Amino acid sequence: MKEKVNKNILNVTPYQPGKPIDEVLRELGLKDVIKLASNENPYPPSPKVIAAISEAALEVNRYPDSGCFYLRRELAKHLNVSEGHLIFGNGTDEVIVMVIRAFIEQGDEIVIAQPTFMVYSIAGNIVGAKIKTVPLIDFDYDLEGMAKAVTDKTKIVFIANPDNPAGTYVNKDQLRKFLDTIRKDIVVFMDEAYYEFVYENDYPDSLALQKEYPNLFVSRTFSKSYGLAGLRVGYGIATKEIIDLINQVREPFNVNSIAQVAALACLKDQEYYDDILKKNEEQRQFLYKSLEETGLSCRKTYTNFILVDVADKKDIAQLLLEKGIIIRRMKAWGLDQYIRITIGTPEENKRCVKTIKDILEI
Ligand SMILES: Cc1ncc(COP(=O)(O)O)c(C=O)c1O
Repeated sequence: MKEKVNKNILNVTPYQPGKPIDEVLRELGLKDVIKLASNENPYPPSPKVIAAISEAALEVNRYPDSGCFYLRRELAKHLNVSEGHLIFGNGTDEVIVMVIRAFIEQGDEIVIAQPTFMVYSIAGNIVGAKIKTVPLIDFDYDLEGMAKAVTDKTKIVFIANPDNPAGTYVNKDQLRKFLDTIRKDIVVFMDEAYYEFVYENDYPDSLALQKEYPNLFVSRTFSKSYGLAGLRVGYGIATKEIIDLINQVREPFNVNSIAQVAALACLKDQEYYDDILKKNEEQRQFLYKSLEETGLSCRKTYTNFILVDVADKKDIAQLLLEKGIIIRRMKAWGLDQYIRITIGTPEENKRCVKTIKDILEI
C-alpha cells in the first residue's frame, strides 16, 4: 500500500501525546498517579457546565448544530466581534488543520519557530507543505529571522503566543513591527491557546490589530483555562473573507453537541474560571520558588506550564513517572535537557516538588 498512499505522509512522525493516567496506572501498577504533562486544567468543570452537559446528553441521538449557533452568539458577544468572524473546530488542532487545508497546495511554504507546537509541521507536512523553521533565540521568537524566511511561496506563518514549550510571548511592538514587514496575502496565524494566562500590559491585543492587519488569524481554545480539553473546542477569529474560505474545508458536524453546550456554559460562568486563573497564578509563583530550591533552573512562563532545565539529570522524568508523576520530556522538541511541568493543583505541585527533592536528595 505504500505505493498508493499520499507520499507526503510517509515521513510524518505522528504527534506523541502525554501519557494518560490510566496507562501509567496499568503499566506501572501504581495506585495514585497525577498528570502534569499536557498543559491541561487540573480542576473539574464548573457545576453549571456539568449540568449543561448532563442535559445535552439526553439529545446525543441528534447531530450537533453545524453552525454552533448559540455558542457563536455568546462568544461573539464575549469577544465583541461579529458572529461571521468566527469559526469553530474540534480543538485548535482542527482549526490549524482547516487553515492549512484551505490555503496550502503541494510545495507551498509555512514558516514556524523551532521548537514550537508540533501540530503546525505535522499538519503542514501531510498536505505537502515545505516547513521552514527559524530557531528561537534564547527561547524567544526571532521574528526578524521569520520575516527573512518568507519567500514568494509562503502562505502561512505560525506564531504561538505564548509559545509551547518555551512559555514566552511576543509583545505588542515586536508583533506590529513583524506584521508591517509581512505581505498582506500571507496568513499570520496567532495561536493564543494560553491567552487567558497572560497578564502583561505589553501582550498584543490581537483582535484590535486585526483591524489594521486583515491577514491576522487568531485562534483560541476552551481546552486550557476553561478546562474542556476532553471535549475539544477551539475557534478562530478572522475577517469574514478568511472565515468563509476556511468554512469550505470544514467537516459538517465538526464540533459535537456536548462540547458546544459545555463551552457556552463556561462563558456564562466566568467567575468560576477567573478563580482558576488566580489559582494558576499563585501556583506559578509557588513553583518558581520551590523549583529554585531544587537547584534546577526554570524559565519565566506566561502559561500554565513551566520549562525546566534538568541539565545532566536527564532521567528525572522517568524517576518521577515511577513515583506516579507524569511530566513531559522535551527530547522530541530537541530540548534534551529540559522537562515541561504543567501547573497542577496545590497538592499536585507540592507532591511534584517534594518528589523532585527526594530524587535529587535535597
Ligand atoms: C500552542 C498550542 N496550540 C494549540 C494546542 C491545542 O489546543 P486544542 O486542545 O484546542 O486543540 C496546544 C495544546 O497543548 C498548544 O500548546
